[in-house]
Amino acid sequence: MSISRHYTWESHAAAYIEAVRRTVDGYGPAKMKVAVPLDAIGRRLAKLNYFLITDIDNTLIGDENDRLDALLQMLDENRDRIGFGVATGRTVESAKEILEKFGVHAPDVVISSVGSEIYYGRHFHYGRGWESHISALWDREKIVGLLRDFPFLTYQKEETQRRFKISYNMEPEKDRLSMIHNRLLHNKCRYNLIYSHQKYLDILPYRASKGKAIRYLGYKWEIPLANFLVCGDSGNDEEMLRGEPKAVVVGNYHPELKKLKGMKNVYFAKNVCAGGIIEAIEKYQFLKI
Ligand code: GLC
Ligand code: MG
Repeated sequence: MSISRHYTWESHAAAYIEAVRRTVDGYGPAKMKVAVPLDAIGRRLAKLNYFLITDIDNTLIGDENDRLDALLQMLDENRDRIGFGVATGRTVESAKEILEKFGVHAPDVVISSVGSEIYYGRHFHYGRGWESHISALWDREKIVGLLRDFPFLTYQKEETQRRFKISYNMEPEKDRLSMIHNRLLHNKCRYNLIYSHQKYLDILPYRASKGKAIRYLGYKWEIPLANFLVCGDSGNDEEMLRGEPKAVVVGNYHPELKKLKGMKNVYFAKNVCAGGIIEAIEKYQFLKI
């Protein structure tokens, strides 16, 4: 019976599919383009050559948001050429909720929970390729256990905690960050630590962040990084604003981003929130390229 088990066409095909799946999971983004079936969103992403990716809170959406509609209209008119994504500290559920509330149509891509998850298209299709890419050497329980006895760390509420994101609140004080690093490094943990707003401490797998998620998207969908316009206002945006993509820091930015002043490819807008993004679109001539 083992002959029919191994040599029918179905079992051959199943073994082949399993081998492809293992290759894709094991080697990350490079092979994904071939293996993922191209549904509507896949076909769209494969076609696009430009992308605008923006943080949500106090960047796309903020207090003085009279330019949001104008920005959305610009994106709509250019949607055949330019993709639209958000990159946020929020969970995907909470991102969805606030976008709907402000009348923002579903983005092509949602990078949520500080870059630890990616979702595609209007059905918010979960990106498994990203998950298998970032899960390497991640041990959530170990990190939580190691940090448990630091009295200055307050574990955030359960709905912000994710499989690939551990979040605390922490008042800034000298040596605290280095105590955390020392403890984790000493115990051979691999991680990425992001401190923002002088309050939030996020710990992610070492391969995860908003910026790394953008790089992954560029690689996977073959969109040059220089063709991304990336928009942010605070510390958890810092890393995605650096480097090759065109970046804008909106006028109402948090002082922790001051250090990006003078950097190549980082434009500090005078206008706040969506108005700052429009200003950058004009400055970079992003709709004319
Ligand atoms: C959002 C998340 C929180 C995170 C913070 C900074 O507020 O809910 O968990 O710590 O962003 O990234
Ligand atoms: Mg923000």
